[in-house]
Formats: sequence, structure tokens, C-alpha cells
Amino acid sequence: MTPAEASVEIEKLCRLAPVIPVLVIEDARTARPLAEALVRGGLPVLEVTLRTDAAIEAISEMARIDGGVVGAGTLLTPADIKAAKAAGALFGVTPGTTDALVDAARAETLPLLPGAATATEALSLLEKGYSVQKFFPAGPAGGAKYLKALSAPLPQVRFCPTGGVSLTNAADYLSLPNVLCVGGSWVVPTDLVAAGDWDAVTELARQAATLPR
Ligand code: 3PG
Repeated sequence: MTPAEASVEIEKLCRLAPVIPVLVIEDARTARPLAEALVRGGLPVLEVTLRTDAAIEAISEMARIDGGVVGAGTLLTPADIKAAKAAGALFGVTPGTTDALVDAARAETLPLLPGAATATEALSLLEKGYSVQKFFPAGPAGGAKYLKALSAPLPQVRFCPTGGVSLTNAADYLSLPNVLCVGGSWVVPTDLVAAGDWDAVTELARQAATLPR
């Protein structure tokens, strides 16, 4: 899969919902009910970060639920990409992007949403063929204002900003012409997961799913 083909796939996913929940799963037993709660609330595209020991098992569990599109985030090495694909991830996300990660995603046929934070990084990913990129860390890097400024010279690059995105500022990003969707962990507060309060998660997902764009 070429980077250009990957970006076509990623754009389709970004159009399914305005928000991709970024998930840090500590206990794989919560994976299925959590994914079901989010899908029920209207957020079918889910990113499980490889930041916990439970992440790979969580991806395998979530990959089985109806209506969900589960991907893997925090991919830092080619081995992460291989493990994510083997677990059933349908897409991958990187916080920043190296040639080794690009080569591994191509080799594994894993559609990649590659991370960039500057004009140079965005341009170098575009040279490879990635027209859809993750803007990370969105808030600290300059927020919606920064992305708006990038859209003037680089309108052909579209972004999924993540990092510091919340219900209160998501609309600022989503109103920009170069933003396809946003990512964030706010939809899944750890206390609700610990309490198994899936109805409350569904309600937060509903709010996120109805954000205008
Ligand atoms: C990510 O990995 O994309 C971010 O860590 C998510 O950031 P948030 O927790 O600020 O939403």
C-alpha cells in the first residue's frame, strides 16, 4: 500500500465521525464494552494506544465488535506496526514519523495516519504521498490558529489534530478547511471506565459525534 493509497483510506475513516477517541486501555476486559459504548454513541473509529501492556489484546478484542473500526496508536517502531497489524488493527497512528515507520506500514499494508507538527514535517510527509496527517501535539504546538496558518501554503494537507483537544475547543479545529476530524482522550475518562459506566461513555460519545464540521 502506497502512502497515497493509505491517505485515501484514512480520509474515509476520518469522514465517518468528527472525533476519533484516543484510548489508553489498562485492562483488556474493558475493551469490548468500551468499544461497544463508543460505537453506540456514534463514534465507530477508535484508536488504541500501545502505551499499556493490555493494548494489543484490547485491539484483538475490539476488532471483533460490529460496526467498529479499530486502529493502533503510539506506534513507535516497526515491531509495533507488525504487532498492531497481527492483532487486527485496521489503521495505525504515529505521534511523529520516521522512514522506518513509513516502510513498515507499507510492508504490513497498514493504512497510516502519520504524525507531523511543523511545516517541514508536513511537507516531507506530503512528498512521500501522505496528504492526510495527524497534527500532534495540537494544543502545545499552536492549536487551531497554527493549523489555520498551515492551510495557506499547504491546503492539500489535511489533518486530524490530537493532543489537548476537548469538547470545548474541538469546534475550533473542525471548522478549519484543512481539518477532517479530531482525536482525543476526553471522550473516555478513566473514572468512567473504572466504574464500568458505559452509558455515561455513550453519552460523551454522542456529544462528540454531533459536533458540527
Ligand atoms: C494522542 O496520543 O493523540 C494524545 O495523547 C491524545 O491527547 P489528549 O489526551 O490530550 O486527548
